[in-house]
Amino acid sequence: MTDTASGSGASGIVKAAPALLGSLRLPADKSVGQRALLFTAMGSGTAEITLDRPGEDVFSMASALQTLGAVRSIDTDADGIVRVLVKGGGTPKAASLRGNGGETLDCGNAGTTMRLLTGALAGRPGTATLIGDDSLSGRPMERVARPLRSAGADVTTTDGHAPVVIRGRRPLSATDHELAVASAQVIGCLTLAALAARGTTTITVPGPTRDHTERMLAWLGAPVRREGPVTTVQGPAGFAVRSMRVPGDISSAAGWLIAGALHPDAHIIIEDVGLNPSRTGIIDVLRDMGADIKVASDGPTDDCPEPVGTITVDGGNPLHAIDLHGDRVDDIIDELPLIAVAMAAAEGVSTLSDAAELRVKESDRIALVVENLRAIGAHAEEREDGWVISRGAPRDAAIRTDGDHRVAMSFAIAALTGVAGTVTIDDPDCAAVSYPTFWTDMERLIR
Ligand code: S3P
Repeated sequence: MTDTASGSGASGIVKAAPALLGSLRLPADKSVGQRALLFTAMGSGTAEITLDRPGEDVFSMASALQTLGAVRSIDTDADGIVRVLVKGGGTPKAASLRGNGGETLDCGNAGTTMRLLTGALAGRPGTATLIGDDSLSGRPMERVARPLRSAGADVTTTDGHAPVVIRGRRPLSATDHELAVASAQVIGCLTLAALAARGTTTITVPGPTRDHTERMLAWLGAPVRREGPVTTVQGPAGFAVRSMRVPGDISSAAGWLIAGALHPDAHIIIEDVGLNPSRTGIIDVLRDMGADIKVASDGPTDDCPEPVGTITVDGGNPLHAIDLHGDRVDDIIDELPLIAVAMAAAEGVSTLSDAAELRVKESDRIALVVENLRAIGAHAEEREDGWVISRGAPRDAAIRTDGDHRVAMSFAIAALTGVAGTVTIDDPDCAAVSYPTFWTDMERLIR
């Protein structure tokens, strides 16, 4: 039973559920949704992007593009389906955003909006300033600014952070980038800038990353491809836009996969969810821990570049400990706070290493996850690049989120499944960054 109210204004008090049963369709994937809007705004022609109940990060991108004059209309129907009509500022031969310069664009909490827009604006004439909320203003932006400068762009950060000022130039120069961090946001940023460069740009990363940028741009006909760790872009180039439907977010599904795996009386079905292989690492991790998860693919559709399908999880299997490190970590970076909860329920001692990136997400997720795990009675120790976690004696706790959506949802799931006692989450509304219907979906599953 929970005392949570629906949507905004949820109380944030969560108790163990007697059972978790039912099927859900989830809000639109935030990585795919932000890209669908931005790439359409850079292409040639007009297209409609359809998103089921998108989170705040997707609206941050939409409102930045509205300021740039690329959004014709945003309509929401009675079921929360949002249709955004976008007119591209590019031509068949040259991708570009609209606007004359001088804009200040508020990216809210969305790292993807800020980093991808930086690349998209680097090759557009005019000056733009990108700002964000307190959390986003503390996140590193030189990781995109430095390689953009090496391609001839004029990008200034404020002591390495937002505000980021971009004075667009065209053409940029084609460059071979060797990135120190395996980041899809950095690849996306440099790929968009490379569309305004003359020649062949390559971007090489040290580990696996989600490939939504390459997949969607190739689907739109742009000369962009990914082979292993290398993304190649042939510039200058444009592409014609296509209407798109964005599938449900597998990172939001992850909460219910963990809840279903941990709860002894659970049967949860997630429909119409994105199954991009660079995002499904969470399923492999949970199966390796012993969870009963089944996946069925719906096959390709002509309005979505991503594979889509249905995932079913059944509770009751005991989970055992796992050690996560190396390349395996990159694929599940957003799911690690939730996986920490599974580790605190499992038999044995689990470890995570090679995950220092967690310290520069929406919060310092290593410090905050360990602090909250200890508060709920689990055994947890912080490491520079990860943690060590084992089961403790569940107790009631107040959860500190620092406004981080994934931390809020992870500890709600901990309480729902009895890994914690009753929890009180300090900022339940922050779940809306990626999952605005999280609290109502939780109520729907509780039996
Ligand atoms: C994202 C990439 C990841 C992820 C973030 C969304 C994207 O960040 O953590 O939530 O949409 O490209 P990094 O690229 O910094 O790893």
